Amino acid sequence: MTSTPFAATVSRNPAAKTPEQRDAILADPGFGNHFTDHMFLAEWTPDTGWANGRVVPYGPLSIDPATAVLHYAQEIFEGLKAYVHADGSVWLFRPEANAARLQRSAHRLALPELPTDWFLGSVTALVDADRDWVPSGGEKSLYLRPFMFASEVFLGVRPSQHVTYSVIASPAGAYFKGGVKPVSIWLSSQYSRAGTGGTGAAKCGGNYAASLLPQQEGMEHGCEQVVFLDSTEHTWIEELGGMNLYFVHSDGSIVTPTLSGSILEGITRDSIIQVARDLGHEVVERRVSIQEWREGVADGSITEVFACGTAAVITPVGTLKWDGGEVTSGDGEAGKVTSDIRSALIDIQYGRAEDRHGWLTRVS
Ligand code: PLP
Ligand code: COI
Repeated sequence: MTSTPFAATVSRNPAAKTPEQRDAILADPGFGNHFTDHMFLAEWTPDTGWANGRVVPYGPLSIDPATAVLHYAQEIFEGLKAYVHADGSVWLFRPEANAARLQRSAHRLALPELPTDWFLGSVTALVDADRDWVPSGGEKSLYLRPFMFASEVFLGVRPSQHVTYSVIASPAGAYFKGGVKPVSIWLSSQYSRAGTGGTGAAKCGGNYAASLLPQQEGMEHGCEQVVFLDSTEHTWIEELGGMNLYFVHSDGSIVTPTLSGSILEGITRDSIIQVARDLGHEVVERRVSIQEWREGVADGSITEVFACGTAAVITPVGTLKWDGGEVTSGDGEAGKVTSDIRSALIDIQYGRAEDRHGWLTRVS
């Protein structure tokens, strides 16, 4: 059954936070700690298609212990942000790209695709209900987390015939506690995040579960993030646990690992290709070996390294550590190219620069 066009009912939360409680949270939201007063829910079955769209008070979901997602991890998600502009209007950055990626992830995980009008309608309806939760000032935003999971109560291994889609929202400040300071990266030599033919290009919870042990190992070595190599040759740089990577060369060109099929197709990564070109940089997508990173930083041919993603925006990378050594790029501050690209991107997101590529959608 094909889904009907997007529609949603709205039930206001009678126990919504008071303006004082909300303001206290918005003053210093951190990342992923607080949630707004509402959430969006819808369900899919083969008979109904996507149906029952509703904005309801934020609260726990009741899950039967035999719900399929708890056993086989048939789950996908997205991440995008709503930004307040100087005139008080609220905008999303490239939401159609998130809608398309959720559809690709759904295909890989044998979940039903959510039509684009349902994706845009659901995030817009939630931002509308929780308009007062979109923080302004500094680099704050409202992080939106659409997600979809197998909600059939059944222990057989097959695609679920009952699927739940939800959107929750969380006011966000800096992803890393240190703000825009270089992070250090641990090279995982024992573990891979994804393999050929696997789910690396899908945004599914299982990929993140697989990254947690190496992430823990990285933290034990004093690093904030982990870099993963390809699973076949253990040579080619893929990405971090939750971000894509860029390398700035001494000739001004910038290089990012090519989409190998096992890397998440980051929307920030894609936007940076355009923004960096607009700033006059040559941008190259190609394979980058871990040896090139180590040697390039040591011999000065790589001058800056940065990571990018919706949550962390653009974050400079300082030290790369591995079992037996380390190299550090930069002097403990963000490099000039990194800072310039970062400013150009966030100026578009916050409406301070012209939206030349039509990336912004007004929602409120
Ligand atoms: N790579 C991984 C594994 C991620 O989780 C993310 C975050 O979403 C990214 C890359 C960056 O993607 P985007 O820029 O679309 O947020
Ligand atoms: C994002 O940047 O949106 C992510 O999903 C990264 C992380 C929070 C999982």
